[in-house]
Amino acid sequence: MSHDDFPTADPAVVTCGLPYANGDLHIGHLRTYVGGDVYSRALERLGQETAFVSGSDMHGTPVAVNAEQEGVSPEAFALDWHERYAETFPKFNVEFDNYGHTHDETNTAVTQELVRDLDEAGHLYEKEIMVAYDPVDDQYLPDRYVEGTCPYCGAHARGDECDEGCQRHLEPGEVEDPESTITGNPAEYRERTHKFFAVSEFADYLSDFLDRLEGTSNARNQPREWIEQGLQDWCITRDMDWGIDLPGGNPQDLVLYVWVDAPIEYISSTKQYSERVGADAFDWEATWKEGASDDHPEGGEIVHVIGRDIIQHHTIFWPAMLEATDHAEPRAVMASGFVTLDGKGFSTSRDRAVWADEYLDEGFHPDPLRYYLATNGGFQQDVDFSWEKFAERVNTELVGTVGNFLYRSLLFAHRNFEGGPDADAPSDDVAARIDEAVDDVAAAVNDYSVRALGDAVTDLARYGNEYIQRNEPWKLVDEAPDEAEQVIYDCVALAKAIGVLFEPLGPEKSERLWEQLGEPGSVHETTVEAAREGPAGDLSEPTELFEQIEDERVEALNEKLEARVAEAEADDGDEERDDGADATDDDGTDANADEADADDTDMTDIEPLSDDRISFDDFQELDIRVGRIEDAVGIDGADELLKLTVDLGAETRTIVAGLKQLHDVDDLPDTKVIVLANMEKAELFGVESNGMVLAAGEEADLLTTYEGAGPGTKVK
Ligand code: 2FM
Ligand code: ZN
Repeated sequence: MSHDDFPTADPAVVTCGLPYANGDLHIGHLRTYVGGDVYSRALERLGQETAFVSGSDMHGTPVAVNAEQEGVSPEAFALDWHERYAETFPKFNVEFDNYGHTHDETNTAVTQELVRDLDEAGHLYEKEIMVAYDPVDDQYLPDRYVEGTCPYCGAHARGDECDEGCQRHLEPGEVEDPESTITGNPAEYRERTHKFFAVSEFADYLSDFLDRLEGTSNARNQPREWIEQGLQDWCITRDMDWGIDLPGGNPQDLVLYVWVDAPIEYISSTKQYSERVGADAFDWEATWKEGASDDHPEGGEIVHVIGRDIIQHHTIFWPAMLEATDHAEPRAVMASGFVTLDGKGFSTSRDRAVWADEYLDEGFHPDPLRYYLATNGGFQQDVDFSWEKFAERVNTELVGTVGNFLYRSLLFAHRNFEGGPDADAPSDDVAARIDEAVDDVAAAVNDYSVRALGDAVTDLARYGNEYIQRNEPWKLVDEAPDEAEQVIYDCVALAKAIGVLFEPLGPEKSERLWEQLGEPGSVHETTVEAAREGPAGDLSEPTELFEQIEDERVEALNEKLEARVAEAEADDGDEERDDGADATDDDGTDANADEADADDTDMTDIEPLSDDRISFDDFQELDIRVGRIEDAVGIDGADELLKLTVDLGAETRTIVAGLKQLHDVDDLPDTKVIVLANMEKAELFGVESNGMVLAAGEEADLLTTYEGAGPGTKVK
């Protein structure tokens, strides 16, 4: 079964992974929340009824451990962070329709009901297991209270996840050589009775579900491997005080594992939204309950936006819980890559991060960061943050392309045509180009590509700049004023379309543009149809929408950041020498990559440099060129290979490359690559490969260029 394209008749719910309420937010976190907000706004601009929900994740050891270190109760600690998050997100124009938390009454009731349903349907059972226990401190050590060695890959791991190694979820009792993170005491394993959810019974369902699942390819590929390796049942209770009580008789005082009640908050938060606006305005059941909608019996349109570290929870445990309790299944999971600094993960404890508050305190507007986070690379790829790259994108794309077109057009229109230029309609070419941009936005939404949403706008602004330059209204205005008026009316029509289509990425800037255009109402209420309608407003004197970031500013920001990164690296060295677990070392939030070193190059794996020299003449025999991928498709029977169509300037070649498992195939078109053009031809799975795309390392990190070198340019 494939889904109808958005917009559909059913309401959609877009959710963002719940941040643990346990520490400051940095721009690594924001990537997921901005991505979700951009996506949900884009759905709305397409005319899809959409609720955008999330909430704070209050329970579990990520909160309890940090609260204990602060000497406050987990409830007070988590509520404090929850309130701060609820204030911070809107500052980045991330506007949830409902932002709840997992400890509120709604979520407690919905969670307990769902767990009861699981039990009544026979999916829960009890089992004796070994759980970590600190005999000195006389306490059980669930999840992050314990650390040790991952039994699968040997990396240092938390009690519930191999965060520094294979990223697997770990069940209680699995971590080897356990130690308490609070006291450092060696832990022992003791037998306890716990509740299990029989996830393994859902293996066939989950395989089919993954075939239907839309979103980013990483959210399908990883879980397919886990299913093939065999699913384990899932322990859903913990020996803790802080959490939601296991319902229905609980002699051991167990609470539910945080990963049970956290995703249920997606339902609870939607329910709270319905209760606030009324079911006529938004009916949570039509989305979440299977069979609630006549048009769409399997349920509504659920899109989960998460960080790539929590794919397993959203594509295995969560859909199994939903299926077992007659809820609707997610339509899509969009799993973002991490944001890194110098190729390394952000670290909360070592202050190796660009903090959300810090960005605003520097006086930057939120929308450029939104644009940068949403469009810098494919959503599932890791993005290395630097102030240079940020400034470059802002200066060339937002200031140089979008802002420049808007300002020059609107200023000319305002100065020469009182109230704005008048014409019957945009000229045919311009109307067709706006239609194309609207189609690009619809395609981007249906491809779950927030980057393509940004490209649709910058491409349209680029067209606008060419259009005004080609038609030179400043020359026509005296010689052929009617023609000049049509040209500038076309430009204002393009500006209006940009206003609508840029709204998901830069909502505040779009609203300001809307005001400058004198359009009625708010751009937040429009759909893409407004982009096709000619301008209707009284133009006011425009001001520039985006600010250039000067080199000196970048240098100053860099200095601060570099000092901090250097300090963090020195700490890394200290930590290795200490050989100790630092329990304060993470906030554990999704999309954060905290402590997970995203640079997967282990220095001990680096081969020594070759002594076997080649001559310059030998090098010159290599015909290395810049190429642009035009198309990327799979090859029947080859799991890892893609057939690429690559524009090499002089000609377009077919090249076979082993990128399928390592990149989001949909993100590859339009990527600039470096190609060894005179590689001998080879036939792979019946396809002739005519060249070789160059990439670094096991993850096939694609080589590219960073300036304007176009297809065919020789690399020398
Ligand atoms: O990993 C995390 O940060 C979790 N707090 C995410 C929960 S997302 C969802 F399932 F609720
Ligand atoms: Zn591991």
